[in-house]
Amino acid sequence: MTTSDVAVGVDAERLAFPPGFWWGAATAAYQIEGAVAADGRTPSIWDTFCATPGKVTGGESGAVAADHYRRYVPDVALMAELGLSAYRFSVSWPRIQPGGTGRENRAGSAFYDRLTDTLLAQGIRPVLTLYHWDLPQELEDRGGWAHRDTAYRFADYAALVAARLGDRIELWSTLNEPWCSAFLGYASGEHAPGRTNPADSLAAVHHLLLAHGSGVRAIRAALPAARTSIVLNLGATRSVSTDPADRDATRRVDGLMNRVFLDPLLRGRYPADVLADTAGITDWSFVHDGDLAVIGTPIDALGVNYYAPLLTGAADPQAGPGIPSAWPGCDGVAFHKAPGSVTDMDWPIDPTGLHDILVRLRREYGDVPLFVTENGAAFPDRVGPDGRVPDPERIAYLHAHLAAVHRAIADGVDVRGYFVWSLLDNFEWAQGYAKRFGIVHVDYETQRRTWKDSAHWYRDVISGGGIPARWPAG
Ligand code: FCB
Repeated sequence: MTTSDVAVGVDAERLAFPPGFWWGAATAAYQIEGAVAADGRTPSIWDTFCATPGKVTGGESGAVAADHYRRYVPDVALMAELGLSAYRFSVSWPRIQPGGTGRENRAGSAFYDRLTDTLLAQGIRPVLTLYHWDLPQELEDRGGWAHRDTAYRFADYAALVAARLGDRIELWSTLNEPWCSAFLGYASGEHAPGRTNPADSLAAVHHLLLAHGSGVRAIRAALPAARTSIVLNLGATRSVSTDPADRDATRRVDGLMNRVFLDPLLRGRYPADVLADTAGITDWSFVHDGDLAVIGTPIDALGVNYYAPLLTGAADPQAGPGIPSAWPGCDGVAFHKAPGSVTDMDWPIDPTGLHDILVRLRREYGDVPLFVTENGAAFPDRVGPDGRVPDPERIAYLHAHLAAVHRAIADGVDVRGYFVWSLLDNFEWAQGYAKRFGIVHVDYETQRRTWKDSAHWYRDVISGGGIPARWPAG
């Protein structure tokens, strides 16, 4: 046992987390709120994308989702019963500032006022994400994230939200997973707005980062004591072999997945190898003097979303180009299936990837406080005849990943909290309602909420301040 083991608490029965650790759950506006036309909200790129035939499984949309806009009071009561110490939610830009410019829409922002106050009344810390992918459609029509002005529109919006909710938000995140916004939105087209232009996707990376830095500055101007962060979906990028060609392929993927975001945010520059890998696509002239200083504005924390590792290597030249379109500049890379069991998303289950990322962040980027802002798994859950929702695989997944976080803390990484994705079953983007990530089941016909076994398990973890040393127990 080491000294850090004592700090986090390790005994034969239980892995205890540090006192004050935030036990959270996460959601996002478009995935749960519904009420897309209520109180002056205008369409976002996701409303448009969902209405485009063939884009979302079953032609589904977030129009109703989990109806949280109307049911937030019982939903917060549920969070209180779980014992959550923090709740990560996002605010919908087109609800607060319809069309993405101009004045605040009080009817829309009032919802977040009420939600925040209801959370605080229950002693739950509000953790707010400004942008979880719902860009006002009008801004996309003017060029979206490929267009520099969108970054400045975002800063104006951040200022509006800071003025409205600032006194009550515990931790701010500017963006959720800019990798997805840029590469799924503008390169592969799997997400809204569904564009497929590699050069635009790289411009989007930069404008998203510029929006982040400008947003942090806008929040701080309104609220000097605000704690700010950004949420990244970092990848544990692994090479199929130590062969130099495989390692080079993995370096490229690591560059686009991790370093193209982390380096400008925390080191003040874009990685030279990524600029070189993508030189045939863009000359990066959208980076203007002074931008990197804005992007590198110090933050108080970094949010890490983790689901699965990536296994990569060099593509077989005989197999043709086969370039994965979400990866501009990654020609010649092959994505391999990692061994072992998978979730309902077909994502491999490997908690060591989470530990690797947390430890790497400390080793390579210093001591920025970290939060695991999303982690969880989809399984095809059903309410049984006895009214229970047994989800032993999800419990095993959460247990293993929390154990990985515990191990990282014991290794000296400053991890301050963990947010399970997700509180409720919800609209899983291009996969519609087919994938259930909640620890609470939602019957979309009746909007009835039913605790899955994992919710009961998580409540016990929270009240005990740690996880059983082994799972299944015994
Ligand atoms: C993340 C998203 C989140 C959810 C999970 C499963 O990429 O941030 O909204 O869809 O994946």
